[in-house]
Amino acid sequence: MPAPKNDTRVYDSVLDTIGWTPLIRLTRVTRGIRTPVWVKAEMFNPGGSVKDRIGIPIIEAAERDGSLKPGGTIVEGTSGNTGVALAMAAALKGYKCIFTMPDKMSQEKVRLLKAFGAEVIITPTAVPPDHPDSYVMTAKRIAHETPNAILANQFYNQANPDAHFATTGPEIWEQTEGKVTHVIAGAGTGGTITGVGRYLKQQNPKIQIVCGDPVGSILTEFWRSNGNTAAVGVPYKVEGIGQDKIPATLDMTVIDEFQTVNDRDAFAMARRLTREEGLFAGGSAGLLTHVALNVARRVNDPTACVVTFLCDTGERYLSKVYNDEWMRENQMLDTDRMTLGQLLDGKHEGTPAGVISIAPTATVRQALGLMTLHNVSQVPVMDGGNCVGSVSEGALSAKGLEDVKLLDKPVSDAMDQPFPVVDAGQTVDAIVKVLSKSNPAVLVREDGAIHGIVTRGDMLHFLMAR
Ligand SMILES: Cc1ncc(COP(=O)(O)O)c(C=O)c1O
Repeated sequence: MPAPKNDTRVYDSVLDTIGWTPLIRLTRVTRGIRTPVWVKAEMFNPGGSVKDRIGIPIIEAAERDGSLKPGGTIVEGTSGNTGVALAMAAALKGYKCIFTMPDKMSQEKVRLLKAFGAEVIITPTAVPPDHPDSYVMTAKRIAHETPNAILANQFYNQANPDAHFATTGPEIWEQTEGKVTHVIAGAGTGGTITGVGRYLKQQNPKIQIVCGDPVGSILTEFWRSNGNTAAVGVPYKVEGIGQDKIPATLDMTVIDEFQTVNDRDAFAMARRLTREEGLFAGGSAGLLTHVALNVARRVNDPTACVVTFLCDTGERYLSKVYNDEWMRENQMLDTDRMTLGQLLDGKHEGTPAGVISIAPTATVRQALGLMTLHNVSQVPVMDGGNCVGSVSEGALSAKGLEDVKLLDKPVSDAMDQPFPVVDAGQTVDAIVKVLSKSNPAVLVREDGAIHGIVTRGDMLHFLMAR
């Protein structure tokens, strides 16, 4: 096992820097949670992911059994990260690489593999795993047809879970000084969860292994039904974890619990990890952290120790998880779907809902007094349930200073245009544009009556809090 990274040694090759990734405590997204949550930051590996750990072991196993000879080719169906791990090792060892990848994968991942000199073949995502065009079957065919080629076969190759048994598991045990109580991991090939679970349960059988699984993967249903399921996978956007078939490298007997998470929650947490914790990781990291926080809340014990994985770097998802346009197109941003009604409910939590308004016949003096009393900067002018105008503290005081007599004139003489009335079911996102310079607020109508007011200040507050 390579030495911890905070030592001062120098390295003979980049491959020697794999592993001993830092274990970092989460402190922001865990606010209000008593159980400590730690993340194993696998993006610190030189290839940027947890998969670096399996590249060399797979190649060296093939060298040992004689199937990979000098000048040979390594073929694999990979969602990218295993490709980087293999390509990096292959570059130093003088092998050629050919990778197949489903077309849902990020462009960054494809370009990255090509940067290492690999050949990348894109296959359709929307075909069953045993279809001849699937990325797994295509890789098999290429390995078979290419002379002196091996299939790295990460879904069957026991060198994969063995690598995690030999490195990831012992690192967690040592870094937590044996205090780890819960590990949350995903299962793509199942290598990580199997190797880590086996190692840690050998040290302490009480350690709970929880699998975070995307909604749409069949793994959870397979585990819950003890394999008695005809469940079929449904496409999802999180990359690297979840399955539509059961990999041979996944040993479900080490898993104590499954929790499923949808893409939306996974991506929201990935973005929070970056913005609040400064940890720039991919969507699967968000999914696993979401589960880790659930577990930590439930355990509610400051002496417990929850560990999860940030499997790869967020740089691989700049065109997806970290691209607002892509997130919006896929209805993944909170503001896309949160309605004004929901925003109002949040605004009025603990205080009575309602709109402070003034009649058109009230005086300007009364309007200014009302705004001071309630500490608001604008109010609608309401006449029998209809908004007929609006007044703001800024505009009214300016007008009052110009002409003091105006203070005792009716509001209708000094009011501005009415606030737009919008439906409570409208999305927050759509209303951001309405709150332009000339519209400092909108009135929200529900069941035919004005239910509340959303000001520019409310909207800014909401957007900043996200
Ligand atoms: C981003 C990401 N997360 C998690 C995993 C899961 O790792 P494993 O294959 O060991 O189950 C992978 C594997 O491809 C991955 O790429």
